[in-house]
Amino acid sequence: MSISINSPADFHVHLRQGAISELIVPHVSKGGFDVAYVMPNLKPPVTSTEQALRYKADLERIDPNVTYLMTLYLCPELTADEIRKANKAGVYGVKSYPRGVTTNSDGGIESYEAYYPIFEAMQEVDMVLNLHGEVPSDANTNIHVLNAEPSFLPHLFKIHEAFPALRIVLEHATTRAAVEAVKKCGPTVACSITAHHLALIVDDWAGQSWNFCKPVAKYPDDRRALQDIVREGHPRFFLGSDSAPHPPHAKSTSSPTHACAAGVYTSPILLPLVAHLLESFGALDKLEGFTSVNGRSFYKYPVEGQRYSRTVFLRKTKPGTLVDAKYALGAESLVPFWAGKEIGWEIFD
Ligand code: NCD
Ligand code: DOR
Ligand code: ZN
Ligand code: ZN
Repeated sequence: MSISINSPADFHVHLRQGAISELIVPHVSKGGFDVAYVMPNLKPPVTSTEQALRYKADLERIDPNVTYLMTLYLCPELTADEIRKANKAGVYGVKSYPRGVTTNSDGGIESYEAYYPIFEAMQEVDMVLNLHGEVPSDANTNIHVLNAEPSFLPHLFKIHEAFPALRIVLEHATTRAAVEAVKKCGPTVACSITAHHLALIVDDWAGQSWNFCKPVAKYPDDRRALQDIVREGHPRFFLGSDSAPHPPHAKSTSSPTHACAAGVYTSPILLPLVAHLLESFGALDKLEGFTSVNGRSFYKYPVEGQRYSRTVFLRKTKPGTLVDAKYALGAESLVPFWAGKEIGWEIFD
C-alpha cells in the first residue's frame, strides 16, 4: 500500500543559524517537505526585512529546492512602515513570543495593546500573526507550564475581536481549550498542531528531557482533542512541526545545575511520523489535508505557482524499521524525536 501527498508544507519550523543549519536544513526535504515557514528566534532575533532576506539567502544556499516563507520577531523596534516593507519583500508573518517562555524569547512581548499599530498595519497588508500562545509562569497568580496556554486564550479572543480581518495562527496548540477557542473564532483564525503533540502526554516528558518542549505536552484528554480535530479534517487546523533542534548536551540533564532546552527534533522524519501517528488514531485519510491543503489554503500559498514542488510517496515499512538514533555532520550532531523506535511509514521515490 502506498500514499502520495502533493507538496507537503511545514508551517512552523526552526532552522537555526551557523554550522548547525548545514545539518538541519537538508532535513526539511529528507522529511518530505518543500515548504518551510521559518521561525525568527535566532540570536539576535530576526526583526527587520533585511535580516529576514539575508537569512532566507543563507537557507537557500544550503538547500535551494525548499521554499522558505520568512517571519519577523515581534518587538518594540518593529514599525508599521517596516511591516509594509516586509510585506512588499515577501515576508509572510510576524511571530509573537511572550517574554521568557521559551528558547530565545527573552526579547518577547509583555503587553499586546502596545502592538496594536503593528497589528493594524498587518491587517491592512494581509500579513499573518503567529502567536506563541502561552503566558509567562508566575507563582503569584498560579500560572505554570500546565495552564499557561489556557490562560493565554483570552488574549487570542481580544486580538481577534480588535482585528477581525487579521489572519492569526495560534501556534502549536496542546489543549482541548485551545482547539475549542480556535473553532469559536471566525475564518481568519487558524491553528497549527505539531506531530509530537499528537503523540505525547505529560507523563512522556516528566523524567524524559528529550520529550521536553514548549508548550509542554498536556493531559490525555487534551491529546484526544488534538487527534479528534485532525480526524475530523477541520480546515483551519494544519501541521506546523515546531521541529526545534538542540545539541545533545543541551537536551540532556546530566548536570544538576542546568535545565534542559525546550524542543524536539522532527524534521528528518516528519512526513513518515505524521503518517504513522495519523494511522494510529484512524486519520490516515486526512494526511494530505493536514500536511498540505489546509495550511496552504489559510496562508494563501497554493501548490500552483510555487517555484518548486514535488509529490511525495509513502509506503509501509518492513516490520522492525526504526528511526535513526542520531544524525551527524562534522562536529555537529542531533538526536531526532522517536529515535530508535519503530515507524510504520517511509518515503520512497
Ligand atoms: C532561554 C533563553 O532564551 O535564554 N529562555 C527560556 O527558556 N525562557 C532559553 C534558552 O536557553 O535558549
Ligand atoms: O519547544 C520549543 N522550542 N518551543 C518553542 O516555542 C521554541 C522552540 C525552540 O526554538 O527551541
Ligand atoms: Zn512558539
Ligand atoms: Zn516554535
